[in-house]
Amino acid sequence: LIDKFSDRILESAKRHSSRIVLALDYVDGEPEQIQEKVQSIIEQTSGGLAAVKINLHLCLPLSLDQINQIVDIAHRHGLQVIADLKLNDIAATNLAVGKLIWNTGFDAVIANPIVGFEMGLGPLFEQAHAARRGVILLVYMSHRGATEGYGLTALDETGHRSTLYEIFLERAIKWGSDGIVVGATNPQIIAEVAKRVNGRISIYSPGVGEQGGSHIESVKAGTDFLIIGRSILRANDPLRLTERIRRDVWDLR
Ligand code: XMP
Repeated sequence: LIDKFSDRILESAKRHSSRIVLALDYVDGEPEQIQEKVQSIIEQTSGGLAAVKINLHLCLPLSLDQINQIVDIAHRHGLQVIADLKLNDIAATNLAVGKLIWNTGFDAVIANPIVGFEMGLGPLFEQAHAARRGVILLVYMSHRGATEGYGLTALDETGHRSTLYEIFLERAIKWGSDGIVVGATNPQIIAEVAKRVNGRISIYSPGVGEQGGSHIESVKAGTDFLIIGRSILRANDPLRLTERIRRDVWDLR
């Protein structure tokens, strides 16, 4: 087993020639039906994916045991599994959640750097890395209202004026983040972040398709992994669409 999540997902991407992280966001039906749909989409598309992502859409209706079964299936198909919880709490809470998700088999979690390091995300980073798991940080989200938060002008700890996302980017580097989220809807910010990290931290971009982002522009700008949900889940032929997106962007950079 490769030690670091960030290396494992790159290895999985290479093996499947894919930059796609499939968001398993099924919302309708009884828990058992949701679980079946999730297992079936993994089985259909896994050959063209690097990872899958699970968030509250699944964690609320399903039991930990059901989530664990999904994680196992993804692993058996050679995929990494990301918990998109956008963790945003004090260390004691983050650590309790961390323990549960690592025991359930997740490889990484998405967290919000707004909470700070000391007694915030610091201990979560330590816990994750000790367990060979990763923490991915939000730097600029994909929805339109992201400007209202991530785009705010702020003074950093030294009194230097910058935007909140620039501060988050510096934190991601300083804290040893295992990935950075920048929405596909903002290719110019992806390009800015890519230039700064220079390949040392992978960039994850949601917001393709339904939210208006272009998978091609996003990867050209510097995205390493595209997080895609509804476009694939709702496609008439999910495998065909996965394959198209996979081929469109795998060799772009
Ligand atoms: P769609 O259906 O829009 O799904 O392709 C995208 C998935 O990604 C999540 N999402 C985000 N997650 N930062 C994140 O960590 C973001 O900026 C962001 N934007 C969308 C969304 O919840 C869904 O699972």
